[in-house]
This record gives sequence, C-alpha cells and structure tokens, in this order.
Amino acid sequence: MIDLAKNLATAPRRTKASVIRELLKFTNKPGVISFAGGLPDPELFPYDFVAGAVKEIMAKKGRVALQYGPTDGLPEFKEEFVKFLQKHEGVSVKPANIIVTTASQQALDIVGRLFIDASDPVLVEMPSYMGGLQVFKSYGADFVGVRMDDEGIMTDDLEERLQWLKKQDEHYKFLYLVPDFQNPSGVTLSEERRRRVIKLSEEYNIAVVEDSPYRQVRFEGSAPKMIYRLDKETHNTDNIISLFTFSKTFAPGLRIGVIVAHEQIIKKMEILKQSLDLCSSSLNQLIAAEFLRSGHFEKHIALVKKVYKTKKDTMLAALEKYMPEGVTWTRPEGGLFLWVKLPESMSADDMFEDAIRENVAYVIGSAFHCDGSGKNTMRLNFSYATPADIDEGIKRLATAVKKRLVLK
Ligand SMILES: Cc1ncc(COP(=O)(O)O)c(C=O)c1O
Repeated sequence: MIDLAKNLATAPRRTKASVIRELLKFTNKPGVISFAGGLPDPELFPYDFVAGAVKEIMAKKGRVALQYGPTDGLPEFKEEFVKFLQKHEGVSVKPANIIVTTASQQALDIVGRLFIDASDPVLVEMPSYMGGLQVFKSYGADFVGVRMDDEGIMTDDLEERLQWLKKQDEHYKFLYLVPDFQNPSGVTLSEERRRRVIKLSEEYNIAVVEDSPYRQVRFEGSAPKMIYRLDKETHNTDNIISLFTFSKTFAPGLRIGVIVAHEQIIKKMEILKQSLDLCSSSLNQLIAAEFLRSGHFEKHIALVKKVYKTKKDTMLAALEKYMPEGVTWTRPEGGLFLWVKLPESMSADDMFEDAIRENVAYVIGSAFHCDGSGKNTMRLNFSYATPADIDEGIKRLATAVKKRLVLK
C-alpha cells in the first residue's frame, strides 16, 4: 500500500472527517433518539409524485432523461426555475444567470474552486455550516469568523474585520452566509443587516455567497427579501451568488440545486463543473421541472411546513418543560434546527458521552465554529424525530444537563 501521509495531495490531507459523520456512528446505537443529523422527515417525501413523474418522463422524454445534458443544466428545468424565482422571490433572472448543480454541496465546492487560493481569508459566520467550512478548508481557506446574534451576522463586526483585512492587503474574496434559518443556529438575517452586507460588499469589493437551503421552509413570521433581490433593488453590485437546493423542499436524494449569479460568474462556474461531473442528472432535473411546473412544489412545501412547525413547537415546549434554569435556545420561524446554549461553564463536547448514555444525541456546537469556540453550545434537529420522541429526547437531554450541573 502506498504511503498515504506522503503520497496524498494537499487538499485531502487538509480535509478532516466531518464531526457530524463521526458522531452519527454513536447515534446509530439502538434506542438513541437522535437530534444530530440534518435529515428531512422521510415520511413526507413525495413518493407517488416521483413514481408518476418518472413514468411520464420515460414515455415522453426518455431519450433526454437518460442522456448527458448541458453542463449548465437542461433548458426545460432552467426555464421552470426562472419562473419559480419570479413567482416566489420576485427575482427576475435569465437562464444565463443560473447553473444547475448536484445540490448545494457541489455549489459550495465550485465556489471554493472559483475563489480560494491557499491561505486566502474567507469570512464566515460564527457558527457556520460545517459542510461549507470543510470544503473551503480543503482549498486552503484561512477563516475569519464574524460573530452572530439573534438578527444574524453582526455587521459592525463584519466591517471591522473587512477594514483590518484591507489594511493588511489580504486577498479576501467572499463572505459566506446562511441567511435564512441558519444551519446550525436557526437564526435569520434581518433585512436591515442584509442591506448593510450589500453596502459593505460594494465598499470592500467582496462577493457574498447566500446559501439558502431552508428559505422556503418558513412556518411563521414574514420573510426578509433575498440578498440577491435586495442588491438588484439597491446597489446592483452583482456581487451576490445565491445557492438553492431541492434537498429540503423535495428530497435530498434528488441531488439537484441551482446557483444564481452574474452571467460571467456562471460561465466560469460552468467550466469548473465540467471537470466535476460534466452535468447533473438529466432525469432528476426533469423530475424537478415537473415538480415546479405541476404545482406540486406548493402543495408539498405546505405539508412540510405544517409538520415541521408541529415538531418545532413540540421541541420548544419540551425545552421549556424540562430544561433547568441557565439553559437558553433560539426560536426559529422555519428550517430544521434550533440552537441551545448551556451555561458558559459547561461543555457540550464533554457532555456528549453522558447524553449518549441517556440515549439521546445532538451535534456539538464547537464543530460549527471556525475557531473551535462555542463549547457550551449544541445544535438540535427537529425535522426527523417524531413528536413523541422529541418530547422524550429533550427530557433525556435535560437529565444529562442536570446531572452535569449537580457535579459542578
Ligand atoms: C447551509 C447548507 N448548505 C448546503 C447544504 C448541502 O445540501 P445539499 O447538498 O443536499 O443541497 C446543507 C445541508 O444540510 C446546508 O445546511
């Protein structure tokens, strides 16, 4: 066997196994109620729609469905997506402004390839999506973390970091944001701060990556406009790169996503995608096109919102009922996650084994912090477990917390 330490390239040597994947091994233990993964509820997948759509596609467009497609995506799908953006987001784009991706994780890889040279600073939220941090790290990113509060990324903090980077003459290229029901915190970036982000993007000449898998899963409250749209209405910087995915609004197994950006950026991305996978699945793009065209998207998302809202409310009620004083949590208006803060003196990392002993699992918050901070935090997923398991799981988690508190 070759010497992996010597023979591997730099990128895989930089890439560590995701903490979530490592933790998921423990969560498979029989009897464990897991709030660790980020999985949609499989009971909700639109099985009948997919079966019917595949049959019809094979009868009418089998040759297209089973053939390679254009790297930027099938025109049939792109057209439907352009209509979707107009209808749901008030965003007008041309097909040349979009490229279809093998879901958002590939989009993040393309962004990394497009912008990052080894040791480039990349600005990220603290906490941020672990899969984004992992891919950017593999390209050699040096993270510059920006703090968050209940309104999302703190823009004063962001400006300070940008000023400092500019003074150092650093090659900062982009800011990575998950602005809607953020993974991991569940927090949504306020519209006022979105405007400030755009202004800073113009002032400091920096792209903004708006990664928004959960935006359509809003149960309550009103949505701030997409950063992409706000930019068009205000500064028109064309610096915004928006990422969409059907993973949370349809099914992650479909692996279909979309990047929306300026035409010239899309052209560069197309060249990069050619070497990644030539094209995303033609069959799956046709299924997604039919999902949008037939109005199934609206029906499906209404069901997803209803079920997830019930689960989120169940989790909030259980936290209220069982958690001891000193523990706080976010109250997301959508998405799949909420964020729990233990008292500063406690470590969710250290408590993980106790939780597994109590037969409940979560993801440690420090894994989402580019600087390893956030030891007293954890991410809880509410979309996967049943409401009864959510209540029982939070009860078990509270037991683990209370036992630690007594030990202190
Ligand atoms: C913020 C964020 N971006 C990207 C992804 C990747 O999703 P997918 O590749 O399934 O679209 C996820 C998955 O959970 C996510 O939470």
